[in-house]
Amino acid sequence: MDLDKCNPIINLFLFICFWTIRGMGGTVTLKGLPNTINVAENSPSAMVVGSFTVTTTATVPPGYPLIINSNPLTKAFSVNPTSSGYQIQITGKPILDFETAPDNFNLQIYVKDSTGDTDLQVLTIVITDVNEPPVFLDNLETQDVLVYIVENSPEGTIYNVLAKDPENKPLQYSLQPTSSPFSISNRTGSIISTKVFDYETDPKSYFLQVKVGDGTNPEIKGTVIVYIVNTNDNAPVFTMKQTTFTIPEEQVPGTIVANITAQDADDFNYVGNLIFSINPTDYFTINPVTGIIRVSEWIDRDEKPLRDNPLIIVEVSVIDSPKGGKSSSMSITFNVTDINDNPPVCNPDTYRTPVKETAIAGTSITTITCTDIDVNPANNQFKFVDLTCNACDLKFALNSTFSGNIVLEGSLDLEQPNNPLEYTLTVVAEDITAPFYKDTAYIYVTVLPVNENPPVFNPATYNFSVSELDGQGTMIGVVNATDKDIPFTGITYSIVAGGSTLGYSNIFWIDPNTGSIQLMTEPDYETTSKYVLTVQATDNDPKDPKIANAVVTVNILEANDEKPICTPNYYTMTIPTDLSPGTNIQRFQLTCTDRDSPPTAFRYTINSGNINNHFAFSPTAGSNITRLILAEPFDYSGGLDKQWNYKLLVFITDDNLLSGARQPKGIVETGTVTVNVNVVIAGLTTVSTTTPPSITYIHIAKNVYATNAWYVPFIITLGIMLLLGFLGYLLYHLAKYLSTKDLSCCTPKPNKYKEPLIQNTNKAKKEVVMELTKLNTVFDGEAVDPVTGKVYEFNTKSGARRWKDTQILKDPQPIKTKSSELVIPVLPSSINEGKGRIGTANGQKTNSNDVQAEQKGDEKQNVFGPNPKSLPQNPAGQPTEGLSPLPTPKTKQEGEPKPILKKGDLSEV
Ligand SMILES: *[C@@H]1O[C@H](CO)[C@@H](O)[C@H](O)[C@H]1NC(C)=O
Ligand SMILES: *[C@@H]1O[C@H](CO)[C@@H](O)[C@H](O)[C@H]1NC(C)=O
Ligand SMILES: *[C@@H]1O[C@H](CO)[C@@H](O)[C@H](O)[C@H]1NC(C)=O
Ligand SMILES: *[C@@H]1O[C@H](CO)[C@@H](O)[C@H](O)[C@H]1NC(C)=O
Repeated sequence: MDLDKCNPIINLFLFICFWTIRGMGGTVTLKGLPNTINVAENSPSAMVVGSFTVTTTATVPPGYPLIINSNPLTKAFSVNPTSSGYQIQITGKPILDFETAPDNFNLQIYVKDSTGDTDLQVLTIVITDVNEPPVFLDNLETQDVLVYIVENSPEGTIYNVLAKDPENKPLQYSLQPTSSPFSISNRTGSIISTKVFDYETDPKSYFLQVKVGDGTNPEIKGTVIVYIVNTNDNAPVFTMKQTTFTIPEEQVPGTIVANITAQDADDFNYVGNLIFSINPTDYFTINPVTGIIRVSEWIDRDEKPLRDNPLIIVEVSVIDSPKGGKSSSMSITFNVTDINDNPPVCNPDTYRTPVKETAIAGTSITTITCTDIDVNPANNQFKFVDLTCNACDLKFALNSTFSGNIVLEGSLDLEQPNNPLEYTLTVVAEDITAPFYKDTAYIYVTVLPVNENPPVFNPATYNFSVSELDGQGTMIGVVNATDKDIPFTGITYSIVAGGSTLGYSNIFWIDPNTGSIQLMTEPDYETTSKYVLTVQATDNDPKDPKIANAVVTVNILEANDEKPICTPNYYTMTIPTDLSPGTNIQRFQLTCTDRDSPPTAFRYTINSGNINNHFAFSPTAGSNITRLILAEPFDYSGGLDKQWNYKLLVFITDDNLLSGARQPKGIVETGTVTVNVNVVIAGLTTVSTTTPPSITYIHIAKNVYATNAWYVPFIITLGIMLLLGFLGYLLYHLAKYLSTKDLSCCTPKPNKYKEPLIQNTNKAKKEVVMELTKLNTVFDGEAVDPVTGKVYEFNTKSGARRWKDTQILKDPQPIKTKSSELVIPVLPSSINEGKGRIGTANGQKTNSNDVQAEQKGDEKQNVFGPNPKSLPQNPAGQPTEGLSPLPTPKTKQEGEPKPILKKGDLSEV
């Protein structure tokens, strides 16, 4: 302590006080206490800097001695008793730093004993300076300093070391280790980074030792730890290498298909801050945290657009922070592969195929078309298997298992037994790969019948017969044809030729279904006796009809349906009264024809008008020509005859016995002729003969079968006929009237029952007797006339007969005949021509014995029976004619002419 610096006033005061206090006591004293003590700065606390004792007669109470009025007012020192005295110690507070603390401490040490005696001494403690090392002024003084540098920060000061030398000497800074990317300014202590740090590549921290020295003292050291602070300066990086994933289609949603991994250099070991996303999200989802991609919906490779392109390209992104992070993205490709998930589908699945029954093996029936929409060739391939068919063993086959073409292998011939009209086939289309999906197609094969076989007539020819008397509707016969084709389509019959003939159309009709041939009209044997029909049978195939023809011969059986027709049919003659019996009157003869009877069948009878039986026809039967004979002479003078005019109604009957025997009907036809004979007195008049009025016969075919309007021409024709007939009738009567008038005016008409004007005429003629002698016949047979019951004789050869009554026969009146006049003149055939009926028919007739007998007689010119007067009369009162009182039951018929018009026959006008 520098005493010079003490204030003399304070010293003076202290002096006075000292002396004052000393003057008041006197027994207690401080001993050994220096006035000044030097103490080095920064001496440690509790260090003893001085000692002293106290001398007293009394005791020193505790707490004494003590320091009062320390200047500066600090308690940097304390008085502590020891065993031998008291010592002064450094308390440590304040630190006795030369530079900062006071350098002089004036301590007043005061003691008071139990008697109250006091002593006081001033002690000056002088602090002496010492050279101290520098000190850190910052945290380095007490701890390590941590410095954080954000990576990528620019180079520059990162920290300023604060240090000071107590003596204010210049300081020297240095940094350890020197290899670190830091440096320190050796004057200022600024620590500078010498590089830009990358957290990811550089050390994450640096330990730096800072040394500060003042040149003399040892350097002080501090630690600065530099931490590099990481920043998000890196984008995440995908770490998986695979970018193409081949996945099958139709994965269940949720199936994991890819594993996206990424890393962020900033967070190398830190998982969970990367966020994944995917775009588009059509098929896939990605777990934003794990990066696992799953299928989100069914993926169908077989549908567009995947059908065309199986690649699905998605963009996968990863970001390292939800906001403002760095992101990366990449494309990954999913190659969707096909699986066999679709069955083959047959479209259509039903086929209806008509096939001709004649189709040969190998014929393609149909081709099944099926498709499999799977894309992959193996998956979309299928084969056709399992051809089934109901009950058609091996008739059909698959051409190949891949074509679906079904071909015929067997025969569909419907004519084969058990071959049906329709087949039902099934074919299965089956995938060639697992799981072998299937589809079934149905084929209905309809067999088309083919008209293979023509109809066949059995028998092939027919020979039918029908009577000409049979009329419309009469069944003639049945033809039959069969057809082997199955199914049987029926047979239609028709007459294609031969069914019609002159003037007739369609005499026959065939039932198209049954083949029954019927008459459409009454045939006429005399016109056509035989028809050769061509009957056709057709199967009813509309496209390709097949036909068969059969020859059907229809024989028209003859019947006696024609009556004799004679010419002349009407005749008027005038004869003298003296005409000799047996004379062929005026050479008049009837020439008869019958289209279905032979000449031998004719029989002539004078039905009425033959008064006194003057007239007879010779022969009476068995010839187609007969002559009018004067059988009895006139006897007007004798009064026997009174009739001058004879109207003879002649019946010409065809005793068509053969036909009658053949036909159950036994028809006998009768024609009539009218002959007028006027008797005049011989010599008075000339014999004149009228020519019969010409009569026109018009034949009308009745056999007109129902063409649509057959009756129109018929009615017209009929009308014309009737008109013509009426005109003819008028003409006829006019002519008759005129003729009768002429006769009545020119010739006196003889009264019928007057006395005869001429008496002797007959007598001369009566002498002309017919000679019968050479015709005298030996009657070598006998028979009973069934009509009269009388017995008659007959010649077995000639058939001539006579009654057996001897009384009559004994004296037979000779029949005188002029044989010369019996010679039959040959009439010119032209007479007959043009007068016959048109359209009538001839028939053959059979002869009975009687006719034969008459034929015999005919050979011998004429056979006259006995005188009618002497012959027995038949019940009708008429003389039995000639020698042939035909004892047959037909006599009744003979007397009754049949009606001229017959059903279906000819009409006459
Ligand atoms: C994806 O990757 C992780 C990590 O390697 C693995 O644990 C997981 O099994 C993977 N998942 C798939 C689906 O590959
Ligand atoms: C997809 O996968 C199929 C089957 O593995 C393969 O044949 C085809 O080449 C692939 N396509 C692409 C583009 O990779
Ligand atoms: C056909 O029948 C007729 C009458 O029955 C007969 O005359 C004729 O000889 C027959 N013809 C044949 C070829 O059988
Ligand atoms: C009459 O019959 C004969 C012999 O049978 C025959 O030759 C002649 O032609 C017939 N006359 C007529 C007109 O029928």
